[in-house]
Amino acid sequence: MQNTILNDTYIVNTNKVDRRITPLLGQIEADKSDVKFLLSQSYNKLTMIFSGNELLGFLLWGMWNDTVHIHMLSIKYQKRGIGKHLLSYLGSITTGDLMVTALDSSREFYIRSGFRQIADDPLELIYDR
Ligand SMILES: CC(C)(COP(=O)(O)OP(=O)(O)OC[C@H]1O[C@@H](n2cnc3c(N)ncnc32)[C@H](O)[C@@H]1OP(=O)(O)O)[C@@H](O)C(=O)NCCC(=O)NCCS
Repeated sequence: MQNTILNDTYIVNTNKVDRRITPLLGQIEADKSDVKFLLSQSYNKLTMIFSGNELLGFLLWGMWNDTVHIHMLSIKYQKRGIGKHLLSYLGSITTGDLMVTALDSSREFYIRSGFRQIADDPLELIYDR
């Protein structure tokens, strides 16, 4: 299943707000103004994964002081390897530490995607390159 859905996907990186992510914002209790604010900072970027015209998920992240910070991640079809694929892609296009401050509910996902916990409260994880 995982390989099937990732076939024929492509990734788009942008510095602009893209309205196609709007339906996925509800899953992370965010809205367009949060995205607009983050993308007004030049060190932040939006990475989207598509299959044809369909958006499968997105990642909003930024890099400063040689550290990559994950701000938002939301996937349309869950548990099919798309989130892990996006994180691995981010690891491949950036250098330096890749960090996330996460909710307990997504801890297992990050661990299974190659992260290691470094702090408890707030929960912080770092990608093992
Ligand atoms: C959390 C989220 C980003 C994960 O993305 P995903 O594409 O569904 O995850 P993947 O299929 O790539 O999963 C990667 C691994 O994590 C595991 N995993 C994914 N979600 C999990 C969960 N909720 N609990 C436990 N394990 C989980 C998968 O089983 C898989 O394990 P494996 O590689 O050993 O087979 C996605 O479910 C989502 O968008 N959730 C709603 C929004 C959200 O919570 N965003 C994160 C906030 S920072």
